[in-house]
Amino acid sequence: MYSQALDERDPRRDPAPADAADASRVLRFDERVAAEEKIEPNDWMPSAYRKTLVRQISQHAHSEIIGMQPEGNWITRAPSLRRKAVLLAKVQDEAGHGLYLYAAAETLGVTREELVDQLLDGRAKYSSIFNYPTLTWADIGAIGWLVDGAAIMNQIPLCRCSYGPYARAMVRICKEESFHQRQGFEIMLTLSRGTEAQKAMAQDALDRWWWPALMMFGPHDSDSTHSEQSMAWKIKRFSNDELRQKFVDVTVPQAEFLGLRVPDDELRYDETTGHYVFGEPDWSEFAAVLRGEGPCNAQRLAHRRRAHDDGAWVREAAEAYAAKRAATTVDHGQTHGTRQRVAQGSP
Ligand SMILES: [Fe+2]
Ligand SMILES: [Fe+2]
Repeated sequence: MYSQALDERDPRRDPAPADAADASRVLRFDERVAAEEKIEPNDWMPSAYRKTLVRQISQHAHSEIIGMQPEGNWITRAPSLRRKAVLLAKVQDEAGHGLYLYAAAETLGVTREELVDQLLDGRAKYSSIFNYPTLTWADIGAIGWLVDGAAIMNQIPLCRCSYGPYARAMVRICKEESFHQRQGFEIMLTLSRGTEAQKAMAQDALDRWWWPALMMFGPHDSDSTHSEQSMAWKIKRFSNDELRQKFVDVTVPQAEFLGLRVPDDELRYDETTGHYVFGEPDWSEFAAVLRGEGPCNAQRLAHRRRAHDDGAWVREAAEAYAAKRAATTVDHGQTHGTRQRVAQGSP
């Protein structure tokens, strides 16, 4: 049902383009977007706008859910009770983000089941960064600092996205991401002020996560398929390259504060522009990870499928409970209705 809604024209919402009524609806939609009005689930919207949002929001949801795995890997090995409690809270937040985002996607007329199926059978993408392994405790610091840091850079502008439910979900998510970024930086700070071995561990984590973090912003603007239209629709507010530059500008001084070296020989501050100049990520690696050839792609999906199968009994129990409640509500409704009629003296 969902695929049809995406690929074929829904005559109720989206008649043939030649239709004059449709042209005026497109015009009205464009005016509303230009006026910074939020588009809500029951409003008319072009099918391509709907399709873009379903793709983007569901990919975002999948990333939150798959992103729990590399960090979940360290919950049992966190170095103290405090670190364990904080990491547990962070990973739970990511599950919550996934749920808000699936719910936001569902307002566009797609079912949760369809979205989950797309993830499990490999049709849907999620952020490539989660296909890298977490080898040491410092990786948990580097992920919070760099990966959540890059996510914030991407997501703050999404709080102003033209689609209301997505924008509102992002407000809360960004507050939590900010906590994630700080907890990561604090881990890196503790390690970088620690023993030589701890400092080396922090440096090694930065060396491995720096380039994948830069790739999180996606390909260059010139190679980005969806960017221009998304900017026109005010789904996206800044281009991939602009966001990557902002991230580098904010993060390099943080690395200096930590006393760590960003693994980029071309990195330098340009006094005239006030921005850092930086090297080129290895885009062939990016493409390979996207194709499913990253170090952990297969493992991440296999784990997700197993977790989904293991959770089948929860879904069945929830459905049985919902059916039971619905039946009880109907009974109560009838009883209540009958009582009211009796009280009013009607038959
Ligand atoms: Fe998140
Ligand atoms: Fe996060």
